[in-house]
Amino acid sequence: MKRILTAVLAAAILALTACGSNDGGTKPAETAKQVGSVKTASQTEQTSETSPEKSTKPSGSILVAYFTAAENGENDAVTSASKVSFWGEDMGNAEAMANVVASYVGGDLFSIQTVRDYPTEYNDLADDAKAEKNAGIHPELATSVDISSYDTVFIVYPIWWYTMPMPIYTFFDEYDFSGKTIIPVTTHEGSGLADSVSKFKELEPNATVKDGYSVRGADVGGSQEDIDGWLKDQGY
Ligand SMILES: Cc1cc2nc3c(=O)[nH]c(=O)nc-3n(C[C@H](O)[C@H](O)[C@H](O)COP(=O)(O)O)c2cc1C
Repeated sequence: MKRILTAVLAAAILALTACGSNDGGTKPAETAKQVGSVKTASQTEQTSETSPEKSTKPSGSILVAYFTAAENGENDAVTSASKVSFWGEDMGNAEAMANVVASYVGGDLFSIQTVRDYPTEYNDLADDAKAEKNAGIHPELATSVDISSYDTVFIVYPIWWYTMPMPIYTFFDEYDFSGKTIIPVTTHEGSGLADSVSKFKELEPNATVKDGYSVRGADVGGSQEDIDGWLKDQGY
């Protein structure tokens, strides 16, 4: 087991160092709107005034919530963590995927951010995240969003230690998804969706949890078409 994890993390490190070559390709016509607010003065305001252009896809009340290491380190930067050059901006892998999903489905974007900062160095982050997981800590969130008006919530995040990062557990603590559709989308270096679907079902028994989608970190830069194809298959 330890050998497998070492291999996975070694692959992750390789992918992270290679991430500069990723290219986000063409930005679709629709742009997503950031929603949500921050609770602490130390966090950067995430609300944007940019309105999405009219979507031809099923409208809806769709929220695309994401968590990425790159927006949860000191100074909002995880220096050695994964970043992909996407649509002319450096983003965390999950953030790039969330942008693609939000743009195609016409959803609103929400960045799940923690009050605490995660270490900026990869090995320190790996140790920290492992300790947080083993201790069962659900870290306090710094950002909040009113999910009552959304019918569907995509949740986009990296796999950390074979499961979702602990801030995603806090996200589930804080919101009631009863009657809503939840769609997990992950980025990873071999674990795929890991235990996401079963965990989501366990945490939100009154929600409909879809099978979800995952993209390897190193492939995020070129994943736009594949994500679009998957979304089309889902009816978007
Ligand atoms: C703390 C930590 C633990 C990780 N654990 C796993 C894992 O168990 N399985 C896996 O496939 N990838 C793992 N990875 C790799 C990340 O899921 C992958 O690099 C992802 O693309 C990072 O997304 P981000 O840039 O949005 O943070 C881990 C990365 C970190 C930082």
